[in-house]
Amino acid sequence: MVSGEPRNLAWKIIRLDEVDSTNEYAKRIAPDSPEGTVVVAKHQSAGKGRKGRSWASPEGGLWVSVILKPPRVDPRLVFVGALAVGDTLADFGIDSGIKWPNDVWVNGRKIAGILTEGRGSEYAVLGIGLNVNNPIPEGLGDSAVSMLQLIGRELPLDRVLERLLFHLGGWYRVFLARPDLLMAKVRERTFLIGMTVRVIEDDSVVTGRVIDVLDDGSLLLDVDGQLKRVLYGDVSVRFV
Ligand code: ATP
Ligand code: BTN
Repeated sequence: MVSGEPRNLAWKIIRLDEVDSTNEYAKRIAPDSPEGTVVVAKHQSAGKGRKGRSWASPEGGLWVSVILKPPRVDPRLVFVGALAVGDTLADFGIDSGIKWPNDVWVNGRKIAGILTEGRGSEYAVLGIGLNVNNPIPEGLGDSAVSMLQLIGRELPLDRVLERLLFHLGGWYRVFLARPDLLMAKVRERTFLIGMTVRVIEDDSVVTGRVIDVLDDGSLLLDVDGQLKRVLYGDVSVRFV
């Protein structure tokens, strides 16, 4: 049993040695599973990011998906994951920031990614990949980092999971009751604010200075003196 369950959400943890993707597994069982079901795997053979990109998931990392059943579809759920990861890292003395919309970075390197999926208002799957003790695949070079690299010693994965679920429960409650407060914290932690970035959407690219993250989760840019709102979605943000 993991301590720190939120009041109305009893975590039920399914532990797997190997799976294609914890998100895929969670989606398969979601219709018949209660909210708070957690799928965690030692290794994913087909871990995935957004837009069908692959997510390297060797043993030693935390690869976890949580089934939630919020009352309505809301893309801001991704921030529940990002804030919970940030708090978990802080519990281990690591300072991090949110790279809007779905990554957590430490000193210019990606330590975690969040992938939300779901079926309408039936269920949502909040998938979190956090590099803990796992090796960082060579192909990623310096773009990624693990807790092991930052702290210099291996951490008990169960302890990291316990902290993560504790914070997820807390931020999920904030998300349900006061999404404005959730977004205030996201704004505080989004290190892109003030930076000039290139935002790539399906077939358009805009370059502008990031002014804010709005309460609906979108990014507000100043593009040559004009304000432009970029909605959360499959958008990519690059630095210029
Ligand atoms: P974008 O700038 O387009 O948002 P992104 O890095 O957020 O890029 P995603 O699709 O959200 O892209 O995440 C998948 C990417 O994450 C992969 O293309 C790869 O570069 C990187 N990645 C894969 N595995 C890991 C890992 N274990 N740790 C850190 N980064 C990883
Ligand atoms: C991203 O940065 O694009 C998101 C990466 C999300 C990775 C996690 S690991 C657990 C869950 N299962 C997956 O296949 N993906 C998410």
